[in-house]
Amino acid sequence: MTVKTAFASMAGWRSRRVALALVAMPFLCGPVPAQSRALQLGAAWYPEQWPESRWEQDLALMEQAHLHVVRVGEFAWSRMEPAEGRYDLDWLERAVRLAEKHHIAVVLGTPTDAPPAWLTAAHPETLRMDATGHLAEHGGRRQFNYANPHYREYCAQIAGQLARRFGHDADVIGWQIGNEYTDESFDPETKQQFQDWLKRRFGTLDALNRDWSTAYWSQTYDRWDEIPLPTAGGNPGLLLEHRHFVSDTWRDFQHVQAEVVRKFAEKRQFITTNLGGLGWSDNFDHYEINDELDLASWDDYVGQGHLNVSRNGAMHDLVRGWKGANFWVMETQPGSVNWAPVNNALDRGETRAMAWQAVGHGADAVLYWQWRSALNGQEQYHGAIVGPDGEPLPLYAEIAQTGNEFERAAALLEGTQPVAQVALLHSYDSRWAIDFQPHSRNYDQLDVLLGYYAPLREKGLTVDIVSAEAPLDRYKLVLAPSLNLISAQSAARLLDYVQKGGHLVLGPRSGMKDEHNALNTERQPGPLADALGGGVEQFFALEDSVPVSGAVGTGSALVWAEQLSVRADNDEVLLRYEKTSGGKAKGWLDGQPAMISRRVGQGRITYLGAVLDPTLMRSTLQRMMTDAHVEPEFSPLPSYVEVCRRVGPDRVDKDRGNNMRAVYVVINHGESAAHIALPGAMRDMLHDGRSLTEVSLDPQDVAVLEAAAP
Ligand code: GAL
Repeated sequence: MTVKTAFASMAGWRSRRVALALVAMPFLCGPVPAQSRALQLGAAWYPEQWPESRWEQDLALMEQAHLHVVRVGEFAWSRMEPAEGRYDLDWLERAVRLAEKHHIAVVLGTPTDAPPAWLTAAHPETLRMDATGHLAEHGGRRQFNYANPHYREYCAQIAGQLARRFGHDADVIGWQIGNEYTDESFDPETKQQFQDWLKRRFGTLDALNRDWSTAYWSQTYDRWDEIPLPTAGGNPGLLLEHRHFVSDTWRDFQHVQAEVVRKFAEKRQFITTNLGGLGWSDNFDHYEINDELDLASWDDYVGQGHLNVSRNGAMHDLVRGWKGANFWVMETQPGSVNWAPVNNALDRGETRAMAWQAVGHGADAVLYWQWRSALNGQEQYHGAIVGPDGEPLPLYAEIAQTGNEFERAAALLEGTQPVAQVALLHSYDSRWAIDFQPHSRNYDQLDVLLGYYAPLREKGLTVDIVSAEAPLDRYKLVLAPSLNLISAQSAARLLDYVQKGGHLVLGPRSGMKDEHNALNTERQPGPLADALGGGVEQFFALEDSVPVSGAVGTGSALVWAEQLSVRADNDEVLLRYEKTSGGKAKGWLDGQPAMISRRVGQGRITYLGAVLDPTLMRSTLQRMMTDAHVEPEFSPLPSYVEVCRRVGPDRVDKDRGNNMRAVYVVINHGESAAHIALPGAMRDMLHDGRSLTEVSLDPQDVAVLEAAAP
C-alpha cells in the first residue's frame, strides 16, 4: 500500500482542512488570520481571575511570544452565571474582542467541570458521591454527578447561552466540552441507572446470569435491582459492564452539551474535549467519547522527571488513533507541574523539544497550562509563562522561540499528517480486563506495549496505535501486544486482514477472554487458535527470567511466559524456552515453544507468548518487519534522536495534485550533539531552506526538514 492511498483513505475533520492545503502557500508565511493557522501555540488564559485593566497587557505579551490561541472559560461558571438564570457574558465578549485585536483565536470551554456554589447548594443531588459513600463538597472541582439529569439540564443551559452568544463569533474557533472527564459517581440514583442500563443491554436476567457465570459464589440475580454498582472488586463480567456504563454515561453527559452547541454554533467551530492519556482517567472508552467530537485533544503532562520520549510519543499516537486524524495538545506544562511527588522543572530546551515532538506525532496545536497562576487557589506553585508580578518568567523566551517557529512552519505543515505502515492494536476492554486481574504485579501493560513500540520508533518508523476495531487494510504489519479479549466477531475481522496478506502478531495474554470478559473455551488465542494452528497450553507469571532462543535471537523472557503448542504441520517455532537447571516455572517451560508463526491465506499470523527483554524484542521485531516488507527510511539513528514524519499533498506543484511531500521533525533528546545522515537531500525549513544530506543537532535541538515523499 502506498503513502498516497493511505492518506486518501483517512477520514475525519481534517478533510476540510486538507482541501485548504491544496492552495499553494508561500515558502514560510508571515502573519495570517487566526482562523487559517494550521499550526499554533497557545495557552490557557483565565481573564475572570484578573482585573480587566490587565487583560490587554497579557494578550500583548502572548502576541509577542507568537501565541495565537487561548482556551478560555472552562472554570468560569460562577462568573458567567452569578445567580441562577442570571447570565453575564459581556466580560467574556470583551475578552474575545481584545484577543482578536492581538490576533489570538479563542477556544471556549463550557464551564461544567466546576459548578457554582449556588447550584450545588440548592440542588445537592447534583453532587458526586464517591465509592465510600462520601458526598463531594464545594471548594474543589469535579464535584458534580455526571449521571444526574438535573445537573445535565444546567450544563445544557449554560452551554446554550455560550453557543448563542459565540456560535457565530469569527474569533471563536472551537469548543471544549467540560474538562478532563474523571470521576464517576456511586450514588443510589446512578446505581439504578446502571441497573436499567444492564436491562437494556442484556434484555433478560437469564442472559446476564449466563454471560457472567453467576452460578459462581451464588451470584445469580433474580431481580435487576439486586445487581451492585461495583465500588471495588467483583465479577469480571460485572466490572467490565460497569466500565461500559461509565463510558456511555460520560458520552451522554457530553452529548447533552455538544448537541446544544451544535444547534447554535457554525460548523467551522470544532467541538472537542481534553482527555487524559494512557494510565490515568481512563475508566471509560476514549474512542467512544471521541465519536461525536470533531477533533481529539489531550493533556500532555510529564509530572516528575523528564520527557520519556517513547512513552510520550506513544501517547500522542494513541490520541491520533482516537479519531484517526491529527489532534491538539490542549494542555501541557510550562516547565513544571504542582501535583507530582517532586515537581522538578523540564531542562532548558526540553519544553520546546516536547512541543515539536507533539507536532511530529500529529498535533496541530500545543497550548500551555497556564499563562499565569491565580494569586490564590490550589495551583499557586504550578509552572506558568508569566509570574505573579505579570512579567515574563525565564521560560517565556523559549516559548516565544517555539511560537515563532510554529508561526513560520504553519504553511509547511498544513495538510500533513503522520502515515504509518505499522499499527499497534489497543483496546480499552482488554486493558481493563488485565487491570482487574493482573496476575503479576510486574505485568505493566504500558511497558508491554512500549516493548513493541520503541524498537519501531528507534528506526524512525511512524506507528499508529489504533482501536482493535479500526480498519487494518492500510497496514503491512499489525501488532497486538495484549489483546486479552477477542470476540468471535473481532477474530473474523483479524483473520480477514491476515487472509488478504496482512501480518498479525499477537502478544502474550491474547484471546484469553470473550466480549463478556469470560474465559474462551478454546485455548488462547481463542477464536484465532485454529488459524494459528497452535495455542497456549499454560501460562506463568514469572518470578525470575527464563532464557529463550531461536530464529529471531537469544535472550530472556521476563514477567510472563506462556507454554505454546503446535498442531499444524506448517507452523514455524521462532523461539523456544531453554532447558534450565531448575526453578524456572519448575521445568514446565523447558524446550517448549515461546513464539510460533504460520502462513495463512496471503498473510501470516504469529503468536509471541512471552514478554521479552528489550534486546531480543528488537531482533524479534526486526524479523517481523522483514517478513512484512516494512523498511525504515533512515540508517541506524542514535538512540536519543527521534525522527517523526508527516506526509501531505505537494504544496508547490498543486497542479500535479497527487504528488506527496514529507516533513520530518528530527529531535535530539540526548545530552550530546548528534549527527544524522539523511536518506536523501532535504530542505532545512527552520533555517534558510538550504538543502542538506546530513543534519547536526545540539542537545534538545530540533530540525524541520522537507522532502518529496518516498
Ligand atoms: C490538568 C487540568 C488543569 C490543571 C492542570 C495542572 O489536569 O485540566 O485544569 O489543573 O492539570 O497540571
